[in-house]
Amino acid sequence: MRLTVVGAGYVGLASALAFAAVGHEVVCVERDPARLARLRRREDPLGEPGVGELLRQTAVRFVESDPELDHADVVLVAVGTPMRADGHADLAQIDEVSRIIAYDARPGTVVAIRSTIPVGTCDRLQTGVLGHQVVVSNPEFLREGHALEDTFAPTRIVAGGPSGARAIVEALYAPLRNRGRRASDFVPLIWTTSRSAELAKYAANGFLATKLSFVNEIANLADVVGADAAAVLRTMALDPRIGAGHLRPGLGWGGSCFPKDTRALAALAAGEGYDFIVLRAAIEQNNRQLAQFAYLIERETRADATIGLLGLAFKAGTADTRESPALALARRLAGTGRRVNAYDPAIRSTPYAAISRVDSDAFAACAEADAVVVATEWPEFAALDLCALRQVTRGDLLVDGRAVIDPVRAAAAGFRYRGVSGLSAAQA
Ligand SMILES: NC(=O)c1ccc[n+]([C@@H]2O[C@H](COP(=O)([O-])OP(=O)(O)OC[C@H]3O[C@@H](n4cnc5c(N)ncnc54)[C@H](O)[C@@H]3O)[C@@H](O)[C@H]2O)c1
Repeated sequence: MRLTVVGAGYVGLASALAFAAVGHEVVCVERDPARLARLRRREDPLGEPGVGELLRQTAVRFVESDPELDHADVVLVAVGTPMRADGHADLAQIDEVSRIIAYDARPGTVVAIRSTIPVGTCDRLQTGVLGHQVVVSNPEFLREGHALEDTFAPTRIVAGGPSGARAIVEALYAPLRNRGRRASDFVPLIWTTSRSAELAKYAANGFLATKLSFVNEIANLADVVGADAAAVLRTMALDPRIGAGHLRPGLGWGGSCFPKDTRALAALAAGEGYDFIVLRAAIEQNNRQLAQFAYLIERETRADATIGLLGLAFKAGTADTRESPALALARRLAGTGRRVNAYDPAIRSTPYAAISRVDSDAFAACAEADAVVVATEWPEFAALDLCALRQVTRGDLLVDGRAVIDPVRAAAAGFRYRGVSGLSAAQA
């Protein structure tokens, strides 16, 4: 099949490379000149495992616009749908791309929207600007840091739209669905309506975010009642109905998806007059979690303190800082007059004024710090030589926002350890 993928971010680039690797002919359109230039040099602009190798091994063509869009059998749209100030998804990029596709693609071409879009968006495009094409919602569920792995081995594929598009979508995914010999290796493709596919994506992210907020509440409560949060969560993880994923307490969830998707889902529900109580509470809990974590640090340090911040990315395994709790924390601490020096294994510089300095290792970032704060769960932070770290810090406070440091090792190294389950004592 001949595919055009629009947008070479985490979703678009992973899709383009995976579909090319399994035999489709792929053109990938990217409008950001810096990202496009790196892709043309076959350099990974995202820092995702395996992307550099596949860029060199596949023949994906990267272009700023596709003059042969009318040759495409399927157009995959993977542009951004960021959060507007009112919580709704900003669909400006989707609408812009749709106008181009409407003009350049053949009538009847399947347009698969891989971006996360509010319920009803495909219907609106189908009855409006893309009236001559066939619009399908085909959301992506990959995790940053595992973008290619998840694209090659999806847990499920969801697509919804006019029934005439089903065979084309099945043919598109056929090479990715057959993972092994057993029937259970076959990746399910749920064919449904575009509204259901659109909601399925928000439902998944809303649920995972709610799970994290619940876990943070349990960790806080464990502290209040004198229970061991780690033991409680380990027990929960062993229940197959609950599962081990998204069970680590932390300073709050963030990233390019959970905050915007939960807000958009809440806004969507509110717009329909539906009060989504559980989701509203999950969002509110998350705001409170970060505020309480910041308060814990503020309470235990002077207003002119220096903070050694370990981690800037919103989670380990990615350089993505969109809606990162680490940055939100840095902004709040800098706003109170504290100085924040940072280190993140994947980030060498930041445009954010709240960070005074980004160092090239943890020891440099924590030199003369009054407090060390762990804000991202990078494995190398768990393995830090805490005795050597304590030698370079001025103060003895270590605040672990990701439950990655062993409190016993921290105490043995001379640190006063404060973990996330100590938040109950703090009040924002
Ligand atoms: N990042 C994730 O983990 C993830 C996972 C699942 C779904 N999603 C969803 O997928 C969508 C894309 O997310 P992302 O993280 O890949 O975004 P991204 O910001 O990394 O990438 C989007 C890309 O599209 C490009 N673009 C925008 N308009 C364009 C145009 N008119 N022509 C060509 N290129 C254009 C941008 O320059 C950018 O490189 C969003 O809706 C997001 O919610 C993201």
